[in-house]
Amino acid sequence: MIWHLFLALTAFMQLAHASRTAPALATIVFPRTVDNTTYDFIIAGGGISGLTVADRLTEDPSVKVLVIEAGPFDRDEPGVLVPGEYFPVPYLWIPLPSTPQTALNGRSFNIPAGKVVGGGSVVNAMVFLRPGREELRDWERLGAKGWDWDSLLPYYKKASLSMLDENSTAPDPEFARRANFSYVDDVHGHSGPVQVSFPNFYYPASGNWFEAAVSSGISVSGDPSDGNARGVIFFPSVTDHTTRTRSHARLNHYTGVQPRANYHLLASHTVSKVLFDKHKKAIGVGYLPTQGGESRTARATKEVLLASGALHTPQILQLSGIGPKALLDKLNITVIADLPGVGANFHDQPSLLIPYNVTNNIEPNLGSLSDPAYDAEARRLYDEQKTGPYVITRGLSTNLALPSLREVTANWKSIIAAARRADFDKYLPPDTHPTVRAGYKLQRELTLSQLETDGTPVHMLSWNTDAEARIYFLRPLSRGTIAINSTDPLAHPLIDFQTLVDPIDMELMLTALLKNRELMAQRSMAVLGPREGSPFGEGVTDAEKLKAILRGVVEPSSAHSCCTAAMMRKELGGVVDEEMRVYGVMGLRVVDTSYWPMVLTSAPTATAYASGEKIADGIKRVYRLGEFGGGK
Ligand SMILES: Cc1cc2nc3c(=O)[nH]c(=O)nc-3n(C[C@H](O)[C@H](O)[C@H](O)COP(=O)(O)OP(=O)(O)OC[C@H]3O[C@@H](n4cnc5c(N)ncnc54)[C@H](O)[C@@H]3O)c2cc1C
Ligand SMILES: *[C@@H]1O[C@H](CO)[C@@H](O)[C@H](O)[C@H]1NC(C)=O
Ligand SMILES: *[C@@H]1O[C@H](CO)[C@@H](O)[C@H](O)[C@H]1NC(C)=O
Ligand SMILES: *[C@@H]1O[C@H](CO)[C@@H](O)[C@H](O)[C@H]1NC(C)=O
Ligand SMILES: *[C@@H]1O[C@H](CO)[C@@H](O)[C@H](O)[C@H]1NC(C)=O
Ligand SMILES: *[C@@H]1O[C@H](CO)[C@@H](O)[C@H](O)[C@H]1NC(C)=O
Ligand SMILES: *[C@@H]1O[C@H](CO)[C@@H](O)[C@H](O)[C@H]1NC(C)=O
Repeated sequence: MIWHLFLALTAFMQLAHASRTAPALATIVFPRTVDNTTYDFIIAGGGISGLTVADRLTEDPSVKVLVIEAGPFDRDEPGVLVPGEYFPVPYLWIPLPSTPQTALNGRSFNIPAGKVVGGGSVVNAMVFLRPGREELRDWERLGAKGWDWDSLLPYYKKASLSMLDENSTAPDPEFARRANFSYVDDVHGHSGPVQVSFPNFYYPASGNWFEAAVSSGISVSGDPSDGNARGVIFFPSVTDHTTRTRSHARLNHYTGVQPRANYHLLASHTVSKVLFDKHKKAIGVGYLPTQGGESRTARATKEVLLASGALHTPQILQLSGIGPKALLDKLNITVIADLPGVGANFHDQPSLLIPYNVTNNIEPNLGSLSDPAYDAEARRLYDEQKTGPYVITRGLSTNLALPSLREVTANWKSIIAAARRADFDKYLPPDTHPTVRAGYKLQRELTLSQLETDGTPVHMLSWNTDAEARIYFLRPLSRGTIAINSTDPLAHPLIDFQTLVDPIDMELMLTALLKNRELMAQRSMAVLGPREGSPFGEGVTDAEKLKAILRGVVEPSSAHSCCTAAMMRKELGGVVDEEMRVYGVMGLRVVDTSYWPMVLTSAPTATAYASGEKIADGIKRVYRLGEFGGGK
């Protein structure tokens, strides 16, 4: 989830290279140390997945692991740590442009993605959600065997600690009742490194919105961590309960771990390719300073693990000769494995901001912070008592609504019927390989069946208690591509979302806008006098006019990119097997959100941590390292 942060981007570009000042207990290394060290595992990318896996593997002191991360260390800035100061800009890939989006009036976008030790966890909005059972069941149907809810739940629990009061027992029942959250202790983590808590403050108007969401027909969720992703929720956040600060992967899987001489981290260096021996076994990586400079190599005796995120992992694969043959040929890259699925099946969750003038709002609300006196008081409350507006991620409120398609529109049957009738093949990128098409066909059927039943959400609605409602379209049918355009590892790949290219996606996007209107018109919201701002406005009701507006304002990303090296059968365009091993080579896995077969309706963080736990456990089992075996 993001909020509009790009206005200030250029002004902060010069801050993008902070120095290595973090007090680390694991070992920060420099290239000369890498030169004379032989590693067991090299991990490309030090984000959520990379650091989770590195931490768990190095629990065995005999295992030497190197993580190479393109970004720098953060410096514990308030913009990173304090939710109410949330400002991720210095630690993003800037610029990271998309290609012009044909269904969005040819607009191009800056794509938000973390470039820092800790990856997305350092810059994200800290929303902590798990997916629903049906979504993971469908992952299995696509070939991700062993990745269903029951298999993942132990790892969701192992990954985190839900801190609800100081003794991590049940939340304060009176606050939970007023804030509308229920909590099933059983499904939560009680000892993991990732700290998760509920804000101990909310703006009163968010309660009006909650009530309106419910009266507009969206069901109230139970505990959203229990495998049912649908409903109206007061959501948990990835913050430490005691300090009310962000719990990110650099803290919870690197700085915080015991001093470990076997856990090396090389920051501000970019992995350029995977190196293979003549048996196509991965033996190391090439890398260079992110700012440019001399290329070097690092050696791995056991495996190379790719964790560079769904935008960059396919780039590394393609640069290494693993990808669609036609693309590799065009750039004269020697083909190691012809895998048409590398960089295909790319999706994210389009989002839409609807501006509001709330003419009779309840004070305080998010807008109150623009009053310096209120802001100072709020900050003092945070510093002294760890409560108040600063415990909430700046720009968000505390409630979200995730309705099913039936709850969004009475027309759900006809939309699904139209989607089933459609000649969808023509909306895939023209050079899509037949195996990828076959995989997409199955994905589409599974997605439509999910939308047809009442369990899986289609959208996520929110209102920030002030001038913005934001909608996230969770289940897009369109699929894009990531493709290198150069053999230069520091050049950006071509990132093409193909947002709303499938016309059914436009129909679904429109239902979200109309549902938001219905919600805002409920009595408990209507009393606040919300007026839809330009380019919308309640007076604009013609569907074609609204679609035309949407083309001009929808954004392709919620920073939830995934699925570009999918865990599916090879004949469905898959890139990795259920152990995340890349088809056609040895000693190489993809361990980040690239492996997801389909996007989940929940924000990715909880699942990225859990799958890092699961894959580390699997690797330890294979090599008989340290402790392994189910989560706790
Ligand atoms: C602004 C923003 C807001 C978000 N809000 C939320 C939210 O509220 N809730 C939620 O659940 N999710 C949110 N997300 C998404 C979430 O953070 C990501 O989905 C998650 O971090 C993905 O984990 P990952 O391990 O796949 O990759 P990442 O955590 O992105 O890590 C990948 C790392 O690899 C590095 N890298 C890339 N290329 C190379 C290379 N060639 N060599 C070396 N290193 C490389 C990158 O710099 C990065 O640090 C948000 C993301 C952003 C950017
Ligand atoms: C590698 O080189 C570094 C710096 O030159 C040195 O400190 C270290 O002891 C060397 N390690 C090995 C294993 O030789
Ligand atoms: C937490 O445990 C400590 C020590 O047992 C106790 O003093 C404290 O009151 C407990 N806090 C709550 C909220 O129960
Ligand atoms: C909780 O739900 C009730 C009933 O819908 C509503 O009146 C109240 O304002 C909500 N509180 C919050 C914090 O959402
Ligand atoms: C690929 O190699 C051919 C033949 O050597 C050459 O003509 C062409 O320019 C090369 N293309 C690229 C993109 O380097
Ligand atoms: C919001 O509406 C009020 C009352 O109609 C009006 O006075 C004010 O100018 C509006 N503000 C904006 C930003 O449009
Ligand atoms: C892709 O590469 C070609 C050849 O180097 C270049 O002309 C073109 O501008 C590049 N496209 C983009 C979008 O970077």
